[in-house]
Amino acid sequence: MTHSDDPTAQPTPLEARASGPLTGKVRVPGDKSISHRALILGALAVGETRISGLLEGEDVLNTAKAMHALGARVERTGDFAWSVRGVGVTGFAQPEAPLDFGNSGTGCRLVMGAVAGCPITAIFDGDASLRSRPMRRILDPLELMGAKTGASGPGGRLPLTLHGARDPLPILYRTPVASAQIKSAVLLAGLAAPGVTTVIETEASRDHTELMLKHFGAQIVSTPEGPHGRRIALTGQPELHGAQVVVPADPSSASFPIVAALIVEGSDVVFSDVMTNPLRTGLFTTLREMGGSIEESLVRGDAGEPMAQFRVRASRLRGVEVPPERAPSMIDEYLVLAVAAAFAEGTTIMRGLQELRVKESDRLEATAAMLRVNGVKVEISGDDLIVEGKGHVPGDGLVATHMDHRIAMSALVMGLAADKPVKVDDTAFIATSFPDFIPMMRSLGAEFS
Ligand code: S3P
Repeated sequence: MTHSDDPTAQPTPLEARASGPLTGKVRVPGDKSISHRALILGALAVGETRISGLLEGEDVLNTAKAMHALGARVERTGDFAWSVRGVGVTGFAQPEAPLDFGNSGTGCRLVMGAVAGCPITAIFDGDASLRSRPMRRILDPLELMGAKTGASGPGGRLPLTLHGARDPLPILYRTPVASAQIKSAVLLAGLAAPGVTTVIETEASRDHTELMLKHFGAQIVSTPEGPHGRRIALTGQPELHGAQVVVPADPSSASFPIVAALIVEGSDVVFSDVMTNPLRTGLFTTLREMGGSIEESLVRGDAGEPMAQFRVRASRLRGVEVPPERAPSMIDEYLVLAVAAAFAEGTTIMRGLQELRVKESDRLEATAAMLRVNGVKVEISGDDLIVEGKGHVPGDGLVATHMDHRIAMSALVMGLAADKPVKVDDTAFIATSFPDFIPMMRSLGAEFS
């Protein structure tokens, strides 16, 4: 049972305090986005998919359970090594029980897309955080393709019943917001449709679904559209073949110890195999602009996903302005960037953060609250976040995590360099994406109690 399923689970608070230099070499867990996709495409392929380096966090394990419930054979064959025997595109079986995605918007929304192309009915559910998140943005295109929404919470929220289409239609869809989850749901439903399904996005979002579909044998073409966008065309009804997937380390998870290494004086930490897909690296660009010392070496790639070793050394940071068009490439990293900004000298302005309001929590409000309660001056202006960096953070605050793993990790990172300790009310949700965060940080020298 995951924490989010367990109504009796007690919160597990933790305090982080000023720590000595962080040093050592670590590999953070496998990328969450790629892990979900490897399981889902493995389940839709014919033959065996072997995955190494899978993230064994609660979010991904819930997707693995859903694939099993939909008829795929999913087995753990070793540490972070998994085998999936798929049922083929449109081959999903009707699940006997509701599919519970816990805290995970990605797992839930991508599987909705895959189910929408199959003639089955499935009930989708999740924890209180996921039940509060918008699903209409996914249901709208899936309904255009022939799926039908049955009973649901208000505004199409979970728990909801989805009836997949017997004869799904290919569509041309312009995503209303830059969202890899919307794009991926349409493409996964499009696998079952005859002809070409096209998604147009005005701001390119992470392209792991496109890269992995190609890796599994689909015909998919992505071309530039406007100054920052993409047009993606998928030919439907391919036979996907089981493949080998090596999951690189998650740059979003790496962002927490990376920022910690930058703000804790004297730190020098090496991170191996960090995925460097350019649609995920906006934080590293920004931290370098702020004066952060992040050196990249040993650059290589696997199945279209580049990765590199990073060496990060403590640095004096300065405030910068982050343009709105960078948001899709660092959408999950603004919380920890705000922490770096609080330790910088000068003002950091982060523009165009409206999507942060609909993540695991309202991250715009939660980030501002996390900083304020620790004595940092911060302002929300429309969709922008403005942090006044003073080179140090007073600390001594208790941070509310709102069932959001990234708030918990960001606040703990802040506490490692703040003048006084920083406490978080609940660390349990860290297990959704980075189960070993606390021991890994301790191994580098972080002090938690
Ligand atoms: C993800 C896409 C992003 C991101 C999420 C993972 C994905 O969400 O915030 O953590 O794997 O496709 P949106 O697509 O809604 O921006």
